[in-house]
Amino acid sequence: MVKTDIIRQLTDYFQREGIRQAVILTDENVNRHYAGYFTALQELCAMDKIVIPAGEKSKSIETAASIWNNFVDKQYDRNIFLLNFGGGMVCDLGGFVASTYKRGIRFANCPTTLLAMIDAAVGGKTGVNLHHLKNAVGTFYFPEIQLSADVSLLETLPQEELLSGFGELVKYALIGSVELFQELFQAKKLPVIKQEYVDFCVKFKQEVVEKDPKDQVFRHILNFGHTFGHAIESYASEIGKPVAHGVAVAQGLYYESLLSYKLGHLPQEEWFQIAEFLKKHFHIITLSTDILEKLTNFMLNDKKNRNGMINFTLLERIGHATPDFQISSFDTLGVCDMPSITHNP
Ligand code: GLY
Repeated sequence: MVKTDIIRQLTDYFQREGIRQAVILTDENVNRHYAGYFTALQELCAMDKIVIPAGEKSKSIETAASIWNNFVDKQYDRNIFLLNFGGGMVCDLGGFVASTYKRGIRFANCPTTLLAMIDAAVGGKTGVNLHHLKNAVGTFYFPEIQLSADVSLLETLPQEELLSGFGELVKYALIGSVELFQELFQAKKLPVIKQEYVDFCVKFKQEVVEKDPKDQVFRHILNFGHTFGHAIESYASEIGKPVAHGVAVAQGLYYESLLSYKLGHLPQEEWFQIAEFLKKHFHIITLSTDILEKLTNFMLNDKKNRNGMINFTLLERIGHATPDFQISSFDTLGVCDMPSITHNP
């Protein structure tokens, strides 16, 4: 049997910590493709599996309660180890269950989507949705062991989900690595996702989270593109044309790069390069005054905001971002007046 890095890491960890019972939490899609992924671990400890329906609907307090009940029925104590095997939904939900069952059990994330590999599986944010309110209930709770990502799991990922993850990958290049951006820029179409791209993003995020684990200010740089991105995601869903998270983020990267340029932070030639690159891979929504007004209303509800001002991370150059700019209003981005802005260093 082929032992992946993940199996090796878990084998070492289980032996070191004397783990005797683990539960795999996964969804139906992942289970269909990778039912035997952790079989080698059965030599070491008893493995149980909980399979939940795929999709955002499962990221609910009801699913969390059904998992707590399952654990209680099986009389699991605090020594049970939870292994979240799936995309962002499974990692966020499983992390939340781990942080709350018996006041906290040990867990790890084994992400299967690009989006989860470079975001949800790293950094200790857990949560469930309350009806339409995404991540309304959650905790900061860190996995016991940060497993390396296995990009071979992306082979079965649908193209649209890969594109969505690519939006988030481009964000990391823009805020953290001009070299990665230039490499991605060369690709004519969606590039093959290399292990080194994912490893860079994970390391970058870990370093940011180490400096600001509770998301006070510095960690907001990870939200570059997300202020507009979340608003576009909500707007698209409201008009019945939902877009994938990373695709909305890519559009947010476009508009927040434009904002960075218009406010005199990002040099013009870099803005042009970013715009050309994003337009090559993603459809960018056109902002009429009417749409911008709707997006602004969504942005005013962003949880990073303070005192009614919209909080932005801005790009200084490709590979370097600064968090915490407050913008009181923008009538447009170059369509009308410039926004007024303050910065809290
Ligand atoms: N997804 C952004 C963060 O984890 O802070």
